[in-house]
Amino acid sequence: MSKPKVLVARAIFPSVLERLSQHFDIETNQADEVWPKEELARRMSDKVGAFTTSSERIDAAVLDACPQLKIVANMAVGYNNFDVDAMSARGVLATNAPDVLTETTADFGFALLMATARRVTESEHYLRAGKWTKWNYEMFSGSDVHGATLGILGMGRIGQGIAKRGAHGFGMNVIYHNRSRLEPGLEAACKARYVSKEELLRTSDHLVLVLPYSASSHHAIGAAELAQMKPTANLINIARGGIVDDAALAVALRNRQIAAAGLDVFEGEPAVHPGLLTVPNVVLTPHIASASVPTRLAMGNLAADNLIGYLVNGKPLTPLNPEILKK
Ligand code: DGY
Repeated sequence: MSKPKVLVARAIFPSVLERLSQHFDIETNQADEVWPKEELARRMSDKVGAFTTSSERIDAAVLDACPQLKIVANMAVGYNNFDVDAMSARGVLATNAPDVLTETTADFGFALLMATARRVTESEHYLRAGKWTKWNYEMFSGSDVHGATLGILGMGRIGQGIAKRGAHGFGMNVIYHNRSRLEPGLEAACKARYVSKEELLRTSDHLVLVLPYSASSHHAIGAAELAQMKPTANLINIARGGIVDDAALAVALRNRQIAAAGLDVFEGEPAVHPGLLTVPNVVLTPHIASASVPTRLAMGNLAADNLIGYLVNGKPLTPLNPEILKK
């Protein structure tokens, strides 16, 4: 009997491919080309399943070219690359990869916060450029992390992980804003206090963004919000590009309206706003918050488990539109 056809749209660990190939006839992309939308649709047109990353956009036009498609498994917790309504309307299951990356991503949020506050990359560039000829009392003075006020916008699992690191590890005063307030037990575990967005912007020394991207969070941090922040504040974005207005941020950094920023995600990435590339007070990383070897492997395996779970056993692990399963 022939195996169901599955497309693996980007390069992935050979061990994950090996698992998938036990169940499916797989078309792979180990050359890791980022296919234009039309090519993605063409390659997916005879498949029942697809394994994607956040760079593959799955929308109505792509879905209409793929009448046999039953499931798309995203190797990411964020799924703003999926039009879930269009998928549900066509009976296509959407899955993401939550939980397995929570702690690793929270670790990285802290790494970026520390690097930004203590000017790690800026001072390293200075040293590598051979500019360090003498020590000076104020060279690369940054801001303190311990005891400072840590603001978190978006208090899901990753936000809570960051709060715990800040409160328990660094004795920070943790405040947060979220669409809904956490239940008291979770607030106590995170030692976090719920505040309005306005208070969060006004009082945070370090503001970390961990909210999902949607039309309503587009430019949640723009010129008006940056203007409310302290001139000594640091802004960290490990959420999604588009949540921050990168053009407005570049201006705010250049004018020292805020002290510094640490950014792992960008509007229109992998392109980066040119204004961000020329200011010194920003730490820039290429969307790597979940990139530890064990976590990326766990994410790949979870996406594979969703494909196997659904197409072989009828039971996906982390469905985003579970109503499809009842039809
Ligand atoms: C995620 O899982 O959403 C990460 O940002 C990787 O895309």
